Amino acid sequence: AKEVRIGLLGLGTVGTGVVSIISRHQEELRHQVGCPVTIKKVLVRNLDKKRDIELDDSVVTDQIEDVLFDQDIDVIIEVMGGVETTKEHLLTALRNGKHVVTANKDLMAIYGAELLKVAAEHNCDVYYEASVAGGIPILRSLSDGLSADRITKMMGIVNGTTNYILTKMTQNGSSYEEVLTQAQELGFAESDPTADVEGLDAARKMAILATLGFSMNVSLDDVTVKGISSVTKTDLDYCDQLGYTMKLIGLAKRDEGRVEVSVEPTLLPKDHPLASVHNEYNAVYVYGEAVGETMFYGPGAGSLPTATAVVSDLVSVMKNMRLGVCGRAVQEPLHQRVMKQANE
Ligand code: NDP
Ligand code: HSE
Repeated sequence: AKEVRIGLLGLGTVGTGVVSIISRHQEELRHQVGCPVTIKKVLVRNLDKKRDIELDDSVVTDQIEDVLFDQDIDVIIEVMGGVETTKEHLLTALRNGKHVVTANKDLMAIYGAELLKVAAEHNCDVYYEASVAGGIPILRSLSDGLSADRITKMMGIVNGTTNYILTKMTQNGSSYEEVLTQAQELGFAESDPTADVEGLDAARKMAILATLGFSMNVSLDDVTVKGISSVTKTDLDYCDQLGYTMKLIGLAKRDEGRVEVSVEPTLLPKDHPLASVHNEYNAVYVYGEAVGETMFYGPGAGSLPTATAVVSDLVSVMKNMRLGVCGRAVQEPLHQRVMKQANE
């Protein structure tokens, strides 16, 4: 291709980071994929909103059709959130031969298999690295770097907002409400933070991790969930006095055919490595039969870290396009296997 043209759905915390990386790292992107990347259209809800990033008026639209049906657009990057309507938009995009990159775990935890199936039918890619653990390349590691192993357990902190809240309440004595507001202002929290604080966001990520890591169809209904909304400063003070740190821990393990996935506030001894994962940072332990124990650590939320994962997915799509092997998404073979098993 002479250039790859992007349709960006959403220009909030993550979308702004995506525009920033694409414009600032043109040289690196060209080096990786051999052609320039252009943002052709950007969908927003409110055209009058004041933004930190300047884009030509002709690029920004509030009409989804301007993006989905633009024949020149090769790749749709979805960073607007939402589930049912967003799924329909992405299915339309795939049916029109456009590749999809998304950061949307709400969507992928429920409709990931369907989107990947439609993508395969239309020789398109769907990549979703940013949907789990922000800037940490955990999905790639599971489906690529650790693909020769048999993963038996994954455990970690996969929600930045709750980790930020627990960290600040423990270290600064701040109130729950105060730090939740800070997490929202910093762009870590979901537009409705209930999903963060009630553990649902982490549950969605654990369902995606377990599906990929165990090559099984693990749905949200399979995850037992408890959040941190009822945790008080007094609870955290007691933990501290007893030598523990409270973290919202996601756990997925399998034994023979049985899989258990949970998210719950957990007391860790202060010298446990996960106890020193602070603020919006995430960390995931992955245990493989052959490799033993591996740990992945990094920023789990925020504009540029998340956008890095999104733009890396874009690079993967563009490499596939260049090789003419669209539909060979890194995560796709696993998903196809999972779906085949589910249909048997
Ligand atoms: P924001 O709320 O900051 O931004 C959402 C953007 O999408 C806004 O620009 C908004 O437009 C636009 N938008 C939303 N709904 C519509 C709609 N119906 N029609 C048109 N435009 C719409 O969200 P984030 O950037 O924080 O998150 C985006 C996605 O990325 C979500 O799926 C989230 O779960 C995921 N994610 C977020 C991370 C983070 O750290 N924030 C990390 C990893 C994943 P307008 O600006 O006009 O309001
Ligand atoms: N709200 C999410 C979090 C964003 O706090 O982890 C990253 O997925």
